[in-house]
Amino acid sequence: TDISETSIRKTETAANPVQKADIDWANLGFSYIRTDLRYIAHWKDGAWDAGRLTEDNVLHIAEGSTAVHYGQQCFEGMKAYACADGSVNLFRPDMNAARMQRSCDRLLMPQVPEAMFIDACKQVVAANLRFLPPHGTGGSLYLRPYVIGVGDNIGVRTAPEFIFAVFCVPVGPYFKGGLAPVNFIVSEYDRAAPNGTGAAKVGGNYAASLLPNQEAHARGFGDCVYLDPETHTKIEEVGSANFFAITHDDRFVTPKSPSILASITRQSLLVLARDRLGMDVEEGDVFIDNLSAYKEAGACGTAAVITPIGGIQNGEEFHVFHSETETGPVVRRLYEELTGVQFGEREAPEGWIV
Ligand code: COI
Repeated sequence: TDISETSIRKTETAANPVQKADIDWANLGFSYIRTDLRYIAHWKDGAWDAGRLTEDNVLHIAEGSTAVHYGQQCFEGMKAYACADGSVNLFRPDMNAARMQRSCDRLLMPQVPEAMFIDACKQVVAANLRFLPPHGTGGSLYLRPYVIGVGDNIGVRTAPEFIFAVFCVPVGPYFKGGLAPVNFIVSEYDRAAPNGTGAAKVGGNYAASLLPNQEAHARGFGDCVYLDPETHTKIEEVGSANFFAITHDDRFVTPKSPSILASITRQSLLVLARDRLGMDVEEGDVFIDNLSAYKEAGACGTAAVITPIGGIQNGEEFHVFHSETETGPVVRRLYEELTGVQFGEREAPEGWIV
């Protein structure tokens, strides 16, 4: 069923309060909940159509779709946040739009223009306000935009048609426990090749991470730490999130590498650590055999927000940063600053909130 945009555009006001879905907001995790409407647009003969909202949460695509056989697809993760005054914040959606364009370029898919991307996200939020976790619960509405290659095809080549879609799911913390430390283990697998697709947000990177993740879980860890694929001496990523650490002299350090997925949260923390916490910030090397140089560490990303890292298992050695049970003070301040901006409680740097 197609629903016209005007019929569902509801504004949450005192006169027209949104009847919230029957959800235990305080105990949301990161799992699929079917929401009311999602956006879908089709690309054919060189152009995107107008796109529309639909209740249908199932895709019907050609059996030869390149997304099915050759992994020609990419996705994004972003969130909408309920503010105390009833307004709804999108956090730096222009950054997600730009990153998805880079992913599309890398996989020979047509770019989605920034305005179309942001409009689609706004439509999906507006159409699902009853699933937006209320302010103060800590939850948010996770948006999952994606582009996939579809249409009749069999050879390894770019698809004749594409779909751009956005759906949303109300979410709480990605790792159980919220702002509580999680332990990670160094993986023997590589997440990305030195000149591969690590910097693009494409499904293949995540498919390749399923087995290492399962092995990490089986050993009692939240996820794994991936080292740089070239030398295996430097931390590159943690599970499906980026890595950062705080030195004993209060410098914020996050790895620099062409094969990591450039997290928008990480980019934002570089700015907030420098401008709000007055720290020196650095994109540089974090050597796995030099973890004692850091007093705190964290995983960051849209889904992970900031997850404190308790300890890292590297071979026989287990290194604990601040604590396995307590969140360190710098990580806590970064978390408060970041989520304060996202939920409209703290002043946002110019252009960060839509
Ligand atoms: C995100 O942080 O939004 C991600 O895409 C990570 C993961 C849930 C795949």
